[in-house]
Amino acid sequence: MSQRISIDKLQEGLQTKRIGRSIFLSREVGSTNDWAKELAELGAEEGTVAIAETQTAGHGRLGKEWFSPRGGLWFSVILRPEMSPSEAIGLVFVAGLAVAEVLREKYDLKVETKWPNDVLVNGKKVCGILAEMNTKGRAVKFVVLGFGVNANFLVEKVFPRSLKEVATSLEKELGQKVRLEELFKGLLERLGSRYDECAERGLAFLLADWKKYAGFLGRRVEVRIGNERLSGVALDVDARGALVLRLEDGATKHVLAGDVSLEL
Ligand code: BTN
Repeated sequence: MSQRISIDKLQEGLQTKRIGRSIFLSREVGSTNDWAKELAELGAEEGTVAIAETQTAGHGRLGKEWFSPRGGLWFSVILRPEMSPSEAIGLVFVAGLAVAEVLREKYDLKVETKWPNDVLVNGKKVCGILAEMNTKGRAVKFVVLGFGVNANFLVEKVFPRSLKEVATSLEKELGQKVRLEELFKGLLERLGSRYDECAERGLAFLLADWKKYAGFLGRRVEVRIGNERLSGVALDVDARGALVLRLEDGATKHVLAGDVSLEL
């Protein structure tokens, strides 16, 4: 199966109103999120997508490096939501839910979501989402949702040792490569329908479905917030998207940003 991506195949039969109607494709770029932010600053319309076969400076949350070898699905979507900045933070859950649903429906995989932006298969990360927002006053100018799906490569061959334990790929889980263009279209279509639903019915409605995949709820977790570490039980994700933790001393804490790992 060819690893070359073509815009025609990405758009052929695409069933969305706006998302993916305009696509920028590069064989290699620093980061599709950075590229999409530049396009958004230049006035790119809602739904514009930047996609690359490889990234040389892909990045994740909290400034982490994101390995982006050929064979993966690395793309970013520009949204211009009519939402307040605090509502727009919730779009990362819309994206995570879209990925989880598509991976389960298309490939029948055992998919989970991990707060706030990871999608796991068999307990290992297969996709990360990076949501970046640009605001003016109290208005959202744009949001860029960056999707990194480990697809057609084997992590043990291409990832550094530190990631092999925690990451997986679709090829590894399925024992075969997937059709990248089909996966891409499925993701855009589900993102589009879930995004519209979020705008109409609100984040709480979407979160209820996101939580159906959230295997970490009810489990003991460690949350890293900068240099601070909190241990406790992950009770819930509240209506703002904050993680609700029950700490060792019984107190409840709502955490808006951090990195969760499951305690064994
Ligand atoms: C994370 O898990 O921390 C988020 C990872 C997001 C990676 C994707 S790959 C496409 C887009 N471009 C980037 O530089 N990052 C996102």
